[in-house]
Amino acid sequence: MSEEQAAVTPFEHLGGEAGVRGLVDRFYDLMDLEAAYAGIRKLHPATLDGSRDKLFWFLCGWLGGPDHYIDRFGHPMLRARHLPYAIASSERDQWMACMIQAMEETSVDPALAARLAEAFFGTADWMRNRRD
Ligand code: HEM
Repeated sequence: MSEEQAAVTPFEHLGGEAGVRGLVDRFYDLMDLEAAYAGIRKLHPATLDGSRDKLFWFLCGWLGGPDHYIDRFGHPMLRARHLPYAIASSERDQWMACMIQAMEETSVDPALAARLAEAFFGTADWMRNRRD
């Protein structure tokens, strides 16, 4: 990898805010559409508009772009914010499968998608708060 490529953040690599928004929208569209993700869909509110905005704001910063989430809500405290929802391995795995499918369907560069899947897994696994 050249130094120039190494300096590009995942946020930029995804196409900035428009790219991140596209990924988040596909992620929640799939959660609504696919029976395989019904287990995590039912943990969410009836309308996903708020969830879309929050994940979009969070991911912009997490991927190396602007800190929209922190500007609005302060420290994410993601694990604490997920405690009200029962998350075991099966919910973690559904979240991961939904995100991997969303990355594929929005044509994220496969090398970047593989790197992000690893990073997402670390966060998703840390969110587990129930035994299977
Ligand atoms: C492990 C499986 C996961 C499940 C089942 C899950 C489920 C949920 C649910 C039900 C909400 C509430 C949605 C709402 O209030 O509209 C939520 C919020 C959120 N999730 Fe997750 N999530 C998971 C993993 C993740 C991961 C890996 C990330 C980040 C990479 C993430 C980022 C967020 C953010 C930023 C919020 C908004 C928090 C707030 O301000 O209230 N989640 N999640």
